[in-house]
Amino acid sequence: MATPATDEERRLARLVRAHDRWRSREVFNLLPSENSVSPAARRFLASDLAGRYTLPMASEFDGEALDNSYTGTRYTDQIEALANAAATRVFRARYATVRPLSGHIAALSALVPLLPPGSRVLAIPPDRGGYDGYAPGFVPALLQHVVRPLPADGEGFSVDAAAAVDTIRRERPNAVLLGQSFFLFPYPLRAIAEAAHAVDALVLYDASHVLGLIAGGEFQDPLREGADVVVGSTHKSFPGPQGGLLLTDREDLFAQIDPALVWRVFDNAHWNRIAGVAQTLLELERVGAEYARTTVGNAQRLAQELDARGLPLIAKSAGFTRSHQIHLDRPALRARHGIGGGALARRLERQRLLIDLVGRIGTAEATRLGLTPDHMPRLAELLVRGGIRGERVAAEVLAWRREFPALRLA
Ligand SMILES: Cc1ncc(COP(=O)(O)O)c(C=O)c1O
Repeated sequence: MATPATDEERRLARLVRAHDRWRSREVFNLLPSENSVSPAARRFLASDLAGRYTLPMASEFDGEALDNSYTGTRYTDQIEALANAAATRVFRARYATVRPLSGHIAALSALVPLLPPGSRVLAIPPDRGGYDGYAPGFVPALLQHVVRPLPADGEGFSVDAAAAVDTIRRERPNAVLLGQSFFLFPYPLRAIAEAAHAVDALVLYDASHVLGLIAGGEFQDPLREGADVVVGSTHKSFPGPQGGLLLTDREDLFAQIDPALVWRVFDNAHWNRIAGVAQTLLELERVGAEYARTTVGNAQRLAQELDARGLPLIAKSAGFTRSHQIHLDRPALRARHGIGGGALARRLERQRLLIDLVGRIGTAEATRLGLTPDHMPRLAELLVRGGIRGERVAAEVLAWRREFPALRLA
């Protein structure tokens, strides 16, 4: 008989149960960096795969030729092949790997083999909505790259084609690294890629935030528009378990990237996660187009409804957004309503409405639950009543949330 659980084990189980109840049943999650994993993918996360290794590659050990360092892998290797094949179909890519452990690791998976120390990289700086990881002290410091700013000075940190092309011609970088954490509008990618390729620079597209929209045919199609490598997280607008993936059409680049993954960027790739990502890819083959279209439609309608109720948002003249995100205009929020973006988010959290502390609101998870543009006036009303007027709307939010007990688009 198993020994009884300790008090600390019971406390841990209570905390996980409480988290699950709260986050998956009792709030509306409007954080653009997150999503809800489907029940089928969750089952795979909790499967026996969670504790297993496989290392399918030719090696030699003690004079013997081996095809793997492990035994017991007959299903694991088929699961990986299925996942990669699904990724090539969903993204119409020639090559795909779902091995990278996260979006950040997927970026490293491309940068480490393709750009030696001393390489010059253009990236959008964090104060223009870029990813903090690409700022000088982080990934560039780790890989000894020199990073210079790619301008994103348009409405909502959008990139102007002429300014980007000028910068590329002037700086003659080895790579242009696109992608933002505050990501509202597609890039003028064809112009950027043409200018980059003319100076022999690679175009790497970090689709972490918009990967699910790209999967569903919304936003833009980076591989068709000139990106050499696409990387991204599998858990933001792409509605899977936390992880990363990498796509390319270029055989020469994949031949450098794929063999360098293991031992340079990570070792074991977490096969329960890969089964979960594979499941999500297969779900997107069924519902991805509707999911992506509705997610963007919801973001645009929610922005209009919030604006009509006096909540200041950026990029109004550009139609607010073409992604799953909308952004608070934090200085205008403070001037008009006397509250900062962080305080607003904390106030809304108490009312069971989650937005992030840096002013982003996202519609991906709400769309998975089944909310459509027709629901956005009510959502905007609750956000304004709970966040600006300081009303207690938590009970009303909970009652409404209970009308969406399961993921509709999964
Ligand atoms: C543009 C961008 N790239 C990469 C990442 C890192 O993603 P992950 O947490 O999957 O490593 C983020 C995180 O928010 C991001 O916004």
